[in-house]
Amino acid sequence: MFLLAFLIINFTFAFLIWVYCKLTCGVCRSSRHLVGKTVIVTGGNGGIGYETAKDLAARGARVILACRNETRGLTAKDQIISATGNPDVHYRHLDLASLESVRSFADNILKTDKRLDVLVNNAGCYGSKFEKSEDGLLLEMQSNHFGPFLLTNLLLPLLKSSAPSRIVNVSSYGHNMGGVIDFDNLNAEKETKETYSQFKVYGITKLCNILMTVELERRLRGTGVTTNSLHPGVIATGIGAHVRLMRLIVFLLTPFCKTAWEGAQTTIHLAVAPELSDVSGRYFRDCREVKPSKAAQDTELARRLWDESERLVELQITT
Ligand SMILES: NC(=O)c1ccc[n+]([C@@H]2O[C@H](COP(=O)([O-])OP(=O)(O)OC[C@H]3O[C@@H](n4cnc5c(N)ncnc54)[C@H](OP(=O)(O)O)[C@@H]3O)[C@@H](O)[C@H]2O)c1
Repeated sequence: MFLLAFLIINFTFAFLIWVYCKLTCGVCRSSRHLVGKTVIVTGGNGGIGYETAKDLAARGARVILACRNETRGLTAKDQIISATGNPDVHYRHLDLASLESVRSFADNILKTDKRLDVLVNNAGCYGSKFEKSEDGLLLEMQSNHFGPFLLTNLLLPLLKSSAPSRIVNVSSYGHNMGGVIDFDNLNAEKETKETYSQFKVYGITKLCNILMTVELERRLRGTGVTTNSLHPGVIATGIGAHVRLMRLIVFLLTPFCKTAWEGAQTTIHLAVAPELSDVSGRYFRDCREVKPSKAAQDTELARRLWDESERLVELQITT
């Protein structure tokens, strides 16, 4: 009898949480079409990025899937074309963990495309090894921050000439785990294999996404280009699936996780909602503006990160 009561109470509690999750899950209400517009979605081959790209293609946009794996990129392209009937969907190779790949992707876009209306910096990873990239930067920092930073800067001329245009940066609630940025340890210079924390590094990269948005907003004032960042929710995608602890957490949370379609809604909202045409530098969750951590609102920190990132990706030399 006691066991039965215990099970009923637990089941009811879990059910109520599930209902709460579903009721508070924001959905993009805009039916705006995007015929004649061009969008780039990094990591558009899977998870949230795939659902984002599919939605934008269904609205009639020319969609470029910027992916590091050709097979996955081409498969996603074919699936999106057959699901939406929009043939103007394309795969282009982009590995954010290589500055050379980012430069060659951007060069290619500037040669082939006359406009860029929305750049969605969606691609990201969790739980990379404690390793440096070919550019000498920490692998996860480069994939999640330095790569998107360089990409955004190289595409800015096209975004500006296509204004009004938007840049959407997919961050995470996990930015709270980043704490305060130590600029002498930005690429884990002070860490050893024993002290390296995947949680912390991921948190810092996601904090960098918001800080980049904050400083970018300041630099873009008056250009007609807006930029916002977001937390998509918790979604059982492939991210971090190779990390045992992450697999366990996702397994336990699965009933309360969003679907990839639900997880894409805030990104889509920021990319298309007409009421956000003049909104910039903000952070969203469930299609609503919310405040990020204190560190993520620090404009001085944002400026310093921008300068340091510029130096590390050698932006002045390449532009
Ligand atoms: N899922 C969540 O609960 C959650 C929560 C908060 C924030 N986010 C954020 O949401 C974004 C999308 O994640 P997701 O959940 O959809 O994960 P996902 O299914 O693993 O998708 C991530 C995408 O990023 C791509 N990618 C990773 N590293 C890359 C690189 N170096 N160059 C180019 N592409 C790269 C992946 O390519 P491959 O297919 O080749 O690996 C994949 O297409 C990420 O920025 C993540 O931080 C997710």
